[in-house]
Amino acid sequence: MINLLKHLPVRLRLALSLYVLFMASPIHAEPNAGLGKSVYKKANCVGCHKWHGGGGGSYGGLALSLRDTPLSREALILVIRCGRPATDMPYHYRKAYKGSNRECYGSNSASLGDATPPRARYFLSDRDIGAVVDYIQTDIQGRGTPGYDDCVAFWGADARRCKLMAQAQLNGEKK
Ligand code: HEC
Repeated sequence: MINLLKHLPVRLRLALSLYVLFMASPIHAEPNAGLGKSVYKKANCVGCHKWHGGGGGSYGGLALSLRDTPLSREALILVIRCGRPATDMPYHYRKAYKGSNRECYGSNSASLGDATPPRARYFLSDRDIGAVVDYIQTDIQGRGTPGYDDCVAFWGADARRCKLMAQAQLNGEKK
């Protein structure tokens, strides 16, 4: 890169460097929804809440709809971090409920006993949790029934399931 720049006029070099700097700067970056989407997949929220967040029956019981959830940002963070006692919503914070740690709902597994939420398959950092909440708030919460556009945003335009969805929507409109 540096060698390449040497052959360019000074002003162009400067402009290029500024451009590279600007593009790489975090100030310019989108909110963390992109990272959040990969967390949503990686942490297997999909396994219970489905790709569209609509929830419903799953191996983890009846997962609530993240599309309809009335929860605030803080409440979303809390549920994801600490899970929800006496339900199948798992906690994603590594130290939750361990030993004398009472960061979650002022409780540990000794005080909660059987009501202690299950441990998630993958633990998440606070940054990951913030990102997945960004993603839920921009792409899922309050977005109504999932449609073709949601499908393409999640799986890409080539996904078979999205094509089937488009077809079904088309058939529905014809009726
Ligand atoms: C093993 C299944 C399972 C997994 C995996 C899971 N959830 Fe849940 N989740 C549930 C269930 C079940 C509930 C409903 C709890 C209840 O009945 O209050 C729930 C509830 C929630 C709620 C509360 C919604 C509300 O309106 O009260 C949020 C937010 C949530 N999950 C987000 C997530 C996110 C984000 C992930 C991934 C990081 C995730 N969940 C992974 C099963 C799961």
